[in-house]
This record gives sequence, structure tokens and C-alpha cells, in this order.
Amino acid sequence: MTKFNRMEEAGAGIPPVTEPARQYYFMERAAEIIRRKSEEAGRPLTFCVQTFGCQMNARDSEKLRGILERVGFIKSEDESADFVLYNTCTVRENANLKVYGRLGALRAKKRENPNKIIALCGCMTQEEEVVNTIRKSYPFVDLVFGTHNVYQLAELLVRSLEEDGMVVDVPDATKGSIVEELPTDRKYSFKSGVNIMYGCDNFCSYCIVPYVRGRERSRRPEEILDEIRRLTKDGVREVMLLGQNVNSYGKGLDEDIDFARLLARVAEVPGVDRVRFMTSHPKDLSDDLIHVMASYPNICRHLHLPLQSGSTRLLKIMNRRYTKESYLALTDRIREAMPDISLTTDIIVGFPGETEEDFEDTLDVVRRVQYDSAFTFIYSKRSGTPAAEMENQVPDEVVHRRFPHLLRLVQEIGRERTARFTGQVKDVLVESLNEQNRDLVTGRIMENAVVHFPGSASLIGKIVPVRLDACRGFYYLGTPEF
Ligand code: SAH
Ligand code: SF4
Ligand code: F3S
Repeated sequence: MTKFNRMEEAGAGIPPVTEPARQYYFMERAAEIIRRKSEEAGRPLTFCVQTFGCQMNARDSEKLRGILERVGFIKSEDESADFVLYNTCTVRENANLKVYGRLGALRAKKRENPNKIIALCGCMTQEEEVVNTIRKSYPFVDLVFGTHNVYQLAELLVRSLEEDGMVVDVPDATKGSIVEELPTDRKYSFKSGVNIMYGCDNFCSYCIVPYVRGRERSRRPEEILDEIRRLTKDGVREVMLLGQNVNSYGKGLDEDIDFARLLARVAEVPGVDRVRFMTSHPKDLSDDLIHVMASYPNICRHLHLPLQSGSTRLLKIMNRRYTKESYLALTDRIREAMPDISLTTDIIVGFPGETEEDFEDTLDVVRRVQYDSAFTFIYSKRSGTPAAEMENQVPDEVVHRRFPHLLRLVQEIGRERTARFTGQVKDVLVESLNEQNRDLVTGRIMENAVVHFPGSASLIGKIVPVRLDACRGFYYLGTPEF
């Protein structure tokens, strides 16, 4: 592709050193280059951002899209776009395999459009061996960056357009700060994720997240509240506070604040009709938090409380720092304060050394807690984590025998539990038109269950009362009560 080597060609001056000014400078320069390339091509240039993994990545992708739109690319859902960016996840091996598979397919697309730019960022790229594989087996990739420099996309894009060869810039995840206040392109106009903290310090022995997302850092409460006030002015009614372990929010800040107090302050922001948060670590979930949740009607009656295993023995080896008994006691306290609350969870099957007895403990907790739904995962060995070094890895055939048992139980209980609101009228935040039937709209109740009911696109973003007529497994069919 044509490279632009001279600075004067695309915006003059010296890049500022301070952020976010520096990025705005590079956005201007990138815009100039994109404008010229689009003139050369005789059409607007398009981009496509694909997101893998969790809510953190989803939120980062909104920031990436915001920057790409600002520099003049047009959004597309199609990977034939001129700029394709994969925001990757590496929590399990198959997340990586998926990305490698998709990259293979992109190679052919790049042959059709040699001006195409292919970029990779997110958790996978924080691993050295991944970057080595990309260099060796996917040399057609133009730009690789990490989890800590998402905000630098415009600067990196300019570098990629000006330099030959693959640009790789993956800062150490344990260092550096995160720059906010850049453009974002929210997926939904009426709801938004808000990062309250970054990174994770828990080092659960199976998990790679602390290595690829770095140390835990909380954002200052005023900064979070300002962002939320801005969002509500912009039409947002539901905010989801995001962090790998929101319950340890506030550590390391000068202010005397914890998650319960932050949540209360968020719930008090005028215009915030609903607040959710993800993820809660059971070891840090305080009684104050339960109290705050129960006291504010706009805090959603839903807690995602990852169990991982029901065996106290395994929980210790996993470094989860709670026991089967303390977890059950916690869910009892939560249910006592909020009887209708939805509890959801994550469970891993086949952690090294998992015995039949350990697995039975997991099933036992599932039966006792009665989750609305659960994500069940087969343990995946992640290099660099302590569990990957353990010698007693569970044979595949044992895991594949256990897994369907758990899945069946989780689904059976989930179906029963979800149906508990049948016949009631509940407020639904309408999110979209139904994908299968365009005469229906789809939304969620406070307790997170999905509801489909007759309606048109004009309802999207509104909160409306709906009678939950029938539960079909994991969702409701309803009728409007307005
Ligand atoms: N911070 C969150 C979860 C982040 S990862 C928490 O602590 O709950 C999301 C889920 O992926 C985890 O809850 C866990 O169930 C699963 N997971 C993490 N590492 C895994 C691994 N090596 N193999 C299988 N599942 C894993
Ligand atoms: Fe991973 Fe544990 Fe941190 Fe969750 S709390 S991200 S499972 S190390
Ligand atoms: Fe995956 Fe990174 Fe999230 S590894 S689960 S995208 S923090």
C-alpha cells in the first residue's frame, strides 16, 4: 500500500507528549491519511471490529470503534472491510484457536484487497508466544497491540500506515496507565458498560487474566460518576459497572471508598434507571454490598457469582479463598435480603486433580443454590499459570463424562428457576427487535431474564411494563401492559 512518509503530508507539528491530547493529534493525522486513501480508492474506507471474550473487551471495542469512526472510516460488520481488527480473548485455549482460524480466512481476503489492514489486539497479544506465532505464521498481519494501549489506536494506525512491515507494540501489562476520555461508539444508545477498575490481582491458579490484564487499578470515583452523568445526558438508562473483581474496588485509592459505597453513589445519579455490575468475587462480597443492593430499587436484582468448584479442597488449590460452606452461607444471606434475586455463575469442570467426590460437591452446590443460569467450562490449560504445571491433569474422557451431567443439571434447574415470574407484570428495558420475528421486541427484566413481546422498533430503549405470560426455558413470552 502507499505509505505516507513525510509528516507534512498529513497534519503538521510535533505530537504532544501528554494524553489524551497526543491521541487527538494522531486522530487528526490519521484522518488526513484516510481521507487521501479514500480519494485514491474513489470510495469511503470501511472498518470491522470483531470482539472475542468478556465485557471488558466489549467495552474496549466501543472505544476502538469510536477512534476509527473519528478518523473517517465507515463502520461495517463485514470482514471484507479495509481495516479489520480482532479484539482477542485468551482465557481458554479454544478462544485462541478461533482467532487463528479466522485469521487464516482473512489471508484470502487480503489477497483480494492488498490495501487491507489487518490488526490484532486484546488479551491474546499480551502473550509472547502468540506474538511469535503471528510473526511466523501470519506475516500478513499489519498491526499488533495489547490490552494497555487500546487508547493509542490512532497513533498506532499512523505508524502502521507510515512504516513497512508488521508494527508490534504490546506494552507490559503490569505497567502503565489507561487513558480515558477518547471517543467511543456505544453499541446501544440506552445502555453502557463503565469500567470502574482494570486488571486483577487474584491469581486464581488456572487463570491467565492477571498476566494479560496486569495489576488491579481502580478509577477514581469522581471520574466514574462524571462519565455516568455524561452517559445519562446522552440517553443512557442502564449502566453496567465493569471489573474482573468489582468487590475489591477502591484498593489503592486515596479516597476512603469501597464498592458498596460507589454503587450507592452510582444508583443516586439522576437518570440512572438501572445499575448492574460484573464480576463479583465471592471472597470480597460484603454485607454492606448486600445492604446497598437491597436498599436501592434501581440496582438490578442479579448477581453473577462465579463458583468455579463446589469442593473446598479444590477451591483452595484454585486459590479462590472461600469454601463450599462460606459460599453457601453467602448465597443464603443474599437470598434472605433479596428473595427474588437471580444468581448466575461460572463453573469449571476438570481442574487438575478433580475427583468424583469434588465433582459431586460442585453438583451439590448447584442443587442448593438454584442458579438462574450458569456458564460451564471445561478446564483449559493456560501456559504460565500454576495449574498448568500440576501433574494430575484430569484425562479428557473423565472430563467429557462429567461435563454433560453438570450441564443437564444446570439447565434443568435454570429452566425451573427462570419460570418463577410467570403471570407477573414486570418492567422490561427493550433492547432490540426480535431476530427471528420482526413483530416482536426483546428486552430484559431487572432480574436479567429475557422477554419477547409484540412491539415495534420505537420501543427500543424504553422501560415498559409487560405481563410475563409463559416461560419457554430461558426466556419469556409476554404481552404489553401499556
Ligand atoms: N473475573 C471473573 C472471571 C473472568 S474469566 C471471575 O473471577 O469470576 C471468566 C470465567 O472463565 C471464569 O469465571 C472461569 O470460570 C473461566 N475460566 C478462567 N480460566 C479458565 C481456564 N483456564 N479454563 C477454563 N475456564 C476458565
Ligand atoms: Fe481470573 Fe480469578 Fe481474576 Fe477472575 S478473579 S480474572 S478467575 S484470576
Ligand atoms: Fe478473555 Fe481477556 Fe476477558 S482473556 S475473558 S477477554 S479479560
